[in-house]
Amino acid sequence: MSLKSTENRWGSVARMLHWLMALAIIGNGIVGLVMDEMPRGMSKLNTFAIHKSIGLTVLALLVLRASWRLFDRKPDDEPMPRWQRLAAHATHGVLYLLMLAIPLSGWIYNSAHGYALQWFKLFNLPALSEKNDALSDFAGDTHEILFWVLAVVLVAHVGGALVHHLFERDNTLLRMLPFARLRPKNKGDQP
Ligand code: HEM
Ligand code: HEM
Repeated sequence: MSLKSTENRWGSVARMLHWLMALAIIGNGIVGLVMDEMPRGMSKLNTFAIHKSIGLTVLALLVLRASWRLFDRKPDDEPMPRWQRLAAHATHGVLYLLMLAIPLSGWIYNSAHGYALQWFKLFNLPALSEKNDALSDFAGDTHEILFWVLAVVLVAHVGGALVHHLFERDNTLLRMLPFARLRPKNKGDQP
């Protein structure tokens, strides 16, 4: 199994980062929604701390993933109409922007609100701004709205992957999955 991507499939680093981040982002979104409804108290504070630490981890993984992507190649697109290719690329671009903007808006919200910030109680991170109520409100609203934008874009992203897998019967999904055997492209091709 190759670390780097080839013309036919994503390498193991790109695949591992994709699924690790997908799990962390979706999981952290659920934690965010749940913690918002929790009664005040220690467990709410602890859940906030875990939410922020997972979010910061996503930010660090994004830096790693974007750097790897510059160094790695992208597999060639599976055959598909031009509009679909453009839509898929645009969706991926928006997903990268959201993976940056959601944790950053959370960090700005946290800073402008005057909360301290730690990564899993191991070390402190600096505030990105002075205490500022207007900025805190804006960043908090942005954080929540961008999360719902992500949820909508993800429906299109996952829907697209499933349509390719189930109806086009191509390798779009399989080449991103760990341990999956690729479908032969044409009769006689090696998988
Ligand atoms: C993958 C990254 C992240 C996702 C998907 C995410 C998602 C969410 C969601 C869905 C909420 C609930 C919004 C609401 O109903 O009001 C929330 C709240 C919050 N998030 Fe995040 N978040 C992420 C990263 C971060 C980071 C890095 C920080 C801070 C460093 C942060 C700080 C907060 C805070 C303080 C709240 C509570 C806002 C309030 O009091 O209403 N988040 N987040
Ligand atoms: C928070 C969740 C997710 C995010 C942020 C995300 C983001 C991305 C991004 C940015 C790419 C493009 C990679 C690149 O060009 O460097 C990608 C590719 C891909 N994603 Fe996701 N993804 C998520 C969840 C999922 C899920 C749940 C599925 C399952 C159906 C999925 C299936 C795929 C597939 C099949 C590709 C490869 C597309 C291709 O080879 O052209 N993703 N994802």
